[in-house]
Amino acid sequence: MSYELKSARYLAREVLEKAVQAGDTVIDATMGNGHDTLTLCEAVGPEGRVYAFDIQKEAAEETEKLLQNHGVGERAILINAGHEHMKEYVKEPVSAVVFNLGWLPGGDHSITTRWETTFRAVQAALERLRPGGVLVICAYPGHAEGDRERKKLAGFLSGLDNREYNVLRQQFMNANAGAPECFVVQKNRDFKVVSRFPDMMESAGGPAQRFDERRQRTCLGK
Ligand SMILES: C[S@@+](CC[C@H](N)C(=O)[O-])C[C@H]1O[C@@H](n2cnc3c(N)ncnc32)[C@H](O)[C@@H]1O
Repeated sequence: MSYELKSARYLAREVLEKAVQAGDTVIDATMGNGHDTLTLCEAVGPEGRVYAFDIQKEAAEETEKLLQNHGVGERAILINAGHEHMKEYVKEPVSAVVFNLGWLPGGDHSITTRWETTFRAVQAALERLRPGGVLVICAYPGHAEGDRERKKLAGFLSGLDNREYNVLRQQFMNANAGAPECFVVQKNRDFKVVSRFPDMMESAGGPAQRFDERRQRTCLGK
């Protein structure tokens, strides 16, 4: 028998590969070194679009290189701004949103995702999801902010109305305390509510920075 139970990252990748179709619009909320952005660009194909966010310019630069090397750079809109500004940049419904929380691998560990901004972005992501769409979040509780973020996230997601969303949590119960976890939320196909979250984006503030002036499709530089 060759079947193996696999990690949180594996489940995240598997869900995205199954849920995203050619021509879709999707979001990578934490671009990092661009591996998830690349997976999404390959899944949406030449007619699709990937919005990718990161607060670090280095992340956008690395991602740009990776996408160009794979010949898919034109499918992505790289946004050098926090994912909490998602609603300002993404106006259309999306079929998937992925968060890979924490810090940039190989980067400054003090620059990490934080619950307050992750929460705003998760709310915005749920609003933008089309019926049947998926929100996939990998959380890393091996550091203090990651553990806090994981607990708050679990509390928020477990309170979502099950007539509107299905919520899955993957966790190896006998793993070390810091092992990653994966949360998957699917908006039900007959979802009717347009918006149940207060609009917190207006007060988010902060000018976004233009990452790549050549990208006319972006709405950066406010
Ligand atoms: C674990 S990494 C992401 C890895 C990435 N998905 C990949 O495939 O390489 C987490 C990223 O989140 C970014 N980040 C932190 N706070 C953020 C925020 N408010 N909005 C967007 N990205 C943020 C960090 O800069 C870091 O690059």
